[in-house]
Amino acid sequence: MSILIFDSGIGGLTVLREARVLLADRRFVYVADDAGFPYGDWEEPQLLKRMVDLFGTLIEKWDPRLIVIACNTASTLAIEALRKAYPDQEFVGTVPAIKPAAERTRSGLVSVLATPGTVRRQYTRDLIVDHASRCEVKLVGSTALARLAEQYMRGGFVDETAVAAEIAPCFEESEGRRTDIVVLACTHYPFLVNRMRKMAPWPVDWIDTSEAIARRAASLLEQAGEPVLADEALAEKGEDVAIFTSGIPDFSTRKLLSGFGLTSCQPL
Ligand code: DGL
Repeated sequence: MSILIFDSGIGGLTVLREARVLLADRRFVYVADDAGFPYGDWEEPQLLKRMVDLFGTLIEKWDPRLIVIACNTASTLAIEALRKAYPDQEFVGTVPAIKPAAERTRSGLVSVLATPGTVRRQYTRDLIVDHASRCEVKLVGSTALARLAEQYMRGGFVDETAVAAEIAPCFEESEGRRTDIVVLACTHYPFLVNRMRKMAPWPVDWIDTSEAIARRAASLLEQAGEPVLADEALAEKGEDVAIFTSGIPDFSTRKLLSGFGLTSCQPL
């Protein structure tokens, strides 16, 4: 049975990349709801309905063993509703790494860089109250970065001054202290982290949760005692598939996907 990795676009590939290393014997189905991209701009009730409906179709068609919502904007809104709507299905969510940031900061100034949707969510606010009450956490919503990451991954070019403008509000100075951690709370952002590093006014730790999400998926399967596939079964596991809700993606996207081991594109 396959592992379905879901995002609004190609950001979830940062999680797929790690999951394919840890769970090399599994078949992956990567789903991008690119017809709805960017999720960061949606109103909550409409996006919630869209996701619950879409997962009905996906679960029926693919009957996945595990679903990884590799999108902070989607998880912080819909993970509980999805678990309720599909109680037999196991989900792994992706939420802003506020707790690890609070544990690691030395200056006490932490910024969370995310989509406007994730910044607005009650879920995100609750994470701060529950895990970071002793820090100053600044939520920075970016309307442009997810799009910039998509353009960069497809075309290989990104406007560095635009990246600099988007990350600038993350950097705070107060009473001799400076922000020392920026949480990358959108799965698209790790693709741009080297540019962010270059354009940052001072060095910080950039927290990327892709590997932790993949590890969580792997440990759930391990806890369930599922055996690693033997060689014969491995040969028959099938190609890793990509599904884009707007249809078969263009050539540059297909090229990118094949670089991530997604060899076949299928309609929804
Ligand atoms: N990759 C998504 C996330 O982790 C967001 C991108 C979008 O706005 O659709 O939040």
